[in-house]
Amino acid sequence: MSDVVLQLAPYMEVLKKAANDEIYSTPEASVRLPFDGEVLKRAISVADKVNNNSLKYVVVVGIGGSNLGAQAIYEAIRLKLQIALSHSPRIIFADTNNPREAEALAQFIGQKVHSKDEIVLNIITKSGTTSESVANASFLLEILKNKFGDADALSRVVVTTDENSALWKIAIDKKIEVLPIPKMVGGRYSVFSCVGIFPLLLAGINVQELLAGARESAEKCYNGDIIINPGLVSASTLFLSLKKGIAISNCFLFHSELEGVGKWWRQLTAESLGKNGLGVTPIVSIGSTDLHSMVQLYFGGPQDKFTNFVYAADEQYAHALVPKESIFESLSPDIRGKDFADIMKAILMGTEEAYKENKMPFIETILPDISERSIGAFMQMKMIETMLLAKLWNINAFDQPEVENYKKHTKELLKK
Ligand code: PA5
Repeated sequence: MSDVVLQLAPYMEVLKKAANDEIYSTPEASVRLPFDGEVLKRAISVADKVNNNSLKYVVVVGIGGSNLGAQAIYEAIRLKLQIALSHSPRIIFADTNNPREAEALAQFIGQKVHSKDEIVLNIITKSGTTSESVANASFLLEILKNKFGDADALSRVVVTTDENSALWKIAIDKKIEVLPIPKMVGGRYSVFSCVGIFPLLLAGINVQELLAGARESAEKCYNGDIIINPGLVSASTLFLSLKKGIAISNCFLFHSELEGVGKWWRQLTAESLGKNGLGVTPIVSIGSTDLHSMVQLYFGGPQDKFTNFVYAADEQYAHALVPKESIFESLSPDIRGKDFADIMKAILMGTEEAYKENKMPFIETILPDISERSIGAFMQMKMIETMLLAKLWNINAFDQPEVENYKKHTKELLKK
């Protein structure tokens, strides 16, 4: 372990410099985002222009690194049931080109959106040319134009893209609000840029806390002292396990509302580290749901997985109790009168004991709670961990040549 830490020491300095680099000049530039007050100011100024007491729906068009981060944070904080039932403004994510979903969204806007002020269309694409996003953006803008007229429809659009992309130029030409993504910040590292924070601001998520958590985490993660650096601990442990033939990294989240965070991490790991014949296959498991789905394979199948159990020390939603008396009390008597949070903790501890007995490698990431601050800290740590792993493998964590490849072929097919 100490060899790995020594090997990474010079890179800690690179990360520290990147966090202070106001012109975003290096591939690690995303580390700067939570420290850059200008990004937040710009997002707030546009949010203030389009937000009013009538805003009900924020439709985010974007895919991959352009939507997974915001979606992860939004679902973790708001909870799926609250989103479905009531919360306003509500974010609706449009990523792929599912024809039935698109039609349903068109009908929804047709029937439920009564004035232009009730909706914002945030088109997020760094390149500005991703087919799915251009298709969704064109489709939805047309619906808004038909409903409210051209000028009012365009006044409800906010574009987030690379400064000077072709899309940027169209937006300026049509007087659409635009938010920039720094050139050196790639999609999957962009959650703390306007890509993530603008829609989250509109939805009332505490973005200041999110960024504060990310800043605290970054400062820990570019410290060479392994005792206080969680990114260094997890990158080194995973790196050493992979050397012993582990091929799969399992993020086992013991809070179902963090599933989106897991999917965001999955993309970050897969696109950043799957190169040159190297890589680790990221999978996401949810406790306790996947104990009833995947765990037979984990224990009985090939021993090729490294697990990161993620849970919060303070369970804020711990108000649900199993009644002491119920018609079902004889079915599982040990849970009578127990708090749901205690039941989940027992399941987690039981699972970890079984992992130990079976000598299956795992680490724990304990979040203080499920809050914007903790999630910001976790996501920043995971981005730095990914950069550290790439450094150890000597691969470029910031490009995605194979993704570009499929995009090129798709465009050629669509020309026909
Ligand atoms: O992380 C990445 O770079 C990719 O996943 C992109 O975010 C994704 O392909 C979407 O690209 P764009 O934002 O250019 O539409």
